Amino acid sequence: MLKDWLIEVKVELYNDNFQNFKSYQLPRAQLLIADIPYNLGNNAYASSNQWYVDGDNTKGESDKANKQFFDTDKNFNIVEFMHFANRMLIKEPKETGKAPAMIVFSSFQQMPMVAAYGEKYGFKHSFPMVFVKDTSPQVLKANMKVVGATEYATVLYRDKLPKFNNNGEMIFNWMRWGRDGKEIPKVHPTQKPQGVLERLIEIFTDRGDVVIDPVAGSGSTLRAAASLGREAYGFEIKKDFYKAAKEKMLLDIQPSLF
Ligand SMILES: C[S@@+](CC[C@H](N)C(=O)[O-])C[C@H]1O[C@@H](n2cnc3c(N)ncnc32)[C@H](O)[C@@H]1O
Repeated sequence: MLKDWLIEVKVELYNDNFQNFKSYQLPRAQLLIADIPYNLGNNAYASSNQWYVDGDNTKGESDKANKQFFDTDKNFNIVEFMHFANRMLIKEPKETGKAPAMIVFSSFQQMPMVAAYGEKYGFKHSFPMVFVKDTSPQVLKANMKVVGATEYATVLYRDKLPKFNNNGEMIFNWMRWGRDGKEIPKVHPTQKPQGVLERLIEIFTDRGDVVIDPVAGSGSTLRAAASLGREAYGFEIKKDFYKAAKEKMLLDIQPSLF
């Protein structure tokens, strides 16, 4: 429980498969953020220098070569995920400017698949978001190559336009991917930066709204949501990540200044 100067917000992370959500009495969410496993099979580290010992390709392949990021990647089922999203987002409100949204981080290649499955589950609309980095993990033999320095997400919604908080200004579909400072514990290989998560949460929700992340990893979404006075719930199937999230990421959350 994070005590803010205005309200108390609930923060709960469950060490379980999100498909078991019915066992938990979660409130419906205004915003769902999910960074879905990339299902890259045995090439998860192909764009990372961790493929090689000490990140040095002259030293040979490391134990990460030909490995998946997570042995839980295979547990992720996009159909079950869309079913979860449909059940756990608030129903379409009568008023305009209050509808819920879902943000799905994925690889570029997964984006059409995310939009297509979303449509089958009632998320008729979607648009892409691009996040721009000033570094690239694809550093190996990078001379004379175009290297990846972007991240991607798809924003999905059902009928009415989602809540957009930007003082009536337009919102570009790209954002800078700022890096976390030392005050944010690093507990997951694909951890999303607090600044990006906070910006998205500020746009699509108000204080007191509920944010859910069904594949929470480090608990970064929950931390960002709680620090902004939003209720936050998440699932993480892997015990190690769950423990690290509880012991590091979700301890000592400070309300952000706003
Ligand atoms: C890409 S990572 C999320 C990283 C997270 N966005 C962060 O910033 O730390 C996906 C996570 O989902 C978890 N996961 C995969 N399938 C799951 C499931 N069915 N239920 C709950 N968690 C799952 C994996 O263990 C992994 O930690």
